[in-house]
Amino acid sequence: MVSIKHAQTQYPVADLIRKRWSARAFSPQALSQLEISTILEAANWAPSAMNEQPWRYIVALKQNEEGYQQLLSYLNPGNAAWAKDAAALVFSYAKTTYARNQQPNINALHDTGMANQNLLLQAISMNIYSHVMEGFDKRKISRDFNLADDEQAVVMIALGHLGEAAQLDEPFRSREATPRSRKELGTFVKEL
Ligand SMILES: Cc1cc2nc3c(=O)[nH]c(=O)nc-3n(C[C@H](O)[C@H](O)[C@H](O)COP(=O)(O)O)c2cc1C
Repeated sequence: MVSIKHAQTQYPVADLIRKRWSARAFSPQALSQLEISTILEAANWAPSAMNEQPWRYIVALKQNEEGYQQLLSYLNPGNAAWAKDAAALVFSYAKTTYARNQQPNINALHDTGMANQNLLLQAISMNIYSHVMEGFDKRKISRDFNLADDEQAVVMIALGHLGEAAQLDEPFRSREATPRSRKELGTFVKEL
């Protein structure tokens, strides 16, 4: 199941990038505090405009039942159906103004995305799979966690060790066995 998801690349892309994919079947194995802290520290080493580090995270490990259920409650039913088995849920949001002068930071979402990709790659380097989701109630989560006017919900991320596709209902089960695909290089790159 894992190998079918490995990216079949035309060029020798780094193994970590080829190995990461958006899993839905998570095993009951917990994540430790050390593991989640390592993954979040990796996020923080992303580059950012003016080194503002605009990314923010609210995290719940499954062993923290109350926090976990709260983050799970914001997910759309189509995501919650499988994300309920993840070992951790991570809410990513961005501070959209610069701390030093309160001016808009137009790079905040870009840089938070960079941090999130660091997070995913660090996780897969530890054999921890991930799934980024935009399907959640951004308005409610922002209200409940008192996000300021210059703080913007970005994505929710499920993390955990890989489970078995058989534990999922359709249509999710077949998706675990579908190879990943990407556009051809020539369709999105213009070399001068
Ligand atoms: C910003 C963003 C939002 C996404 N939202 C969802 C989502 O709500 N539900 C879901 O099942 N997958 C979601 N995905 C996962 C994408 O569908 C997935 O990354 C894409 O199909 C490529 O597959 P891969 O990650 O396995 O390479 C999201 C991914 C990103 C980057």
